[in-house]
Amino acid sequence: MVFVNQQRIPRKRTYLMCSPEYFDVEYAINPWMDPGTPVDTELAVKQWDRLRETLLDLGHTVHVLRPVPGLPDLVYAANGALTVDGTAYGATFRHPQRAAEAGVHRAFYAEQGWRYVESGEINEGEGDFAYLPEAYGGLLLAGYGFRTEPAAHAEAQEVLGRPVLSLRLVDPRFYHLDTALGVLDDRTISYFPGAFSIAAQRVLGQLFPDALLADEVDAFAFGLNLVGDGRHVLLNSEATGLAAKLAAAGYTPVPVELTELRKGGGSVKCCIAELRTG
Ligand code: ARG
Repeated sequence: MVFVNQQRIPRKRTYLMCSPEYFDVEYAINPWMDPGTPVDTELAVKQWDRLRETLLDLGHTVHVLRPVPGLPDLVYAANGALTVDGTAYGATFRHPQRAAEAGVHRAFYAEQGWRYVESGEINEGEGDFAYLPEAYGGLLLAGYGFRTEPAAHAEAQEVLGRPVLSLRLVDPRFYHLDTALGVLDDRTISYFPGAFSIAAQRVLGQLFPDALLADEVDAFAFGLNLVGDGRHVLLNSEATGLAAKLAAAGYTPVPVELTELRKGGGSVKCCIAELRTG
């Protein structure tokens, strides 16, 4: 039996989300998307509202972007930028269908008085970057292989002044880092090793010996696409196995139903960007 003596302490956070009013699966840019599958947009909005309310109930602050017709994936707000210490490093989307989303995010940061740095390299914001403020003094984990270019990892390090660790993704179902790796608190991660190259698995094993390992079933249920505040971990309700592992490790899993947004290849984390003012 494992004795859990870890105190899991939540920290209040500020997030950015965008309602799925115009969400639909109109094109396929990842293996989860099938334009032939009907989407219940009304239900998507209801489920998204519930997610937003859950964050508010936990005491977090949530800003919202105004949804834009013709940008069905704007609901995946985590992909628009990466913010660290009050600087927003903007996204440059790989696929033309999502290119215009970057400008919507940029306008938000401008309006809110952030320092915004436009990227010169393809990167999809927090889809492929995860920040751990208390691991190694503030470490960025960065995925590549499907969307974000490795050149953007180096650029993010220059812009944000934080060490960036590049990790190669090898399974197209886990095309963004945040589909295979979740940040539970300021220093702890959970991940599915099979989504990473053998070398990347070794690196993660060396740097994060205390990580909570997830299996393919957890990952397939979008369980790793999670948002943790240090204690509560919001995750897709279908990821029951991972929820049990989290509870055993002393976290409080908070299951969230997002059946409609999953049809676009995303879940909890994809819908929530963290705004780190520093
Ligand atoms: N349909 C979107 C795409 O393929 C889903 C993005 C999901 N977001 C995420 N952070 N993984 O780009």
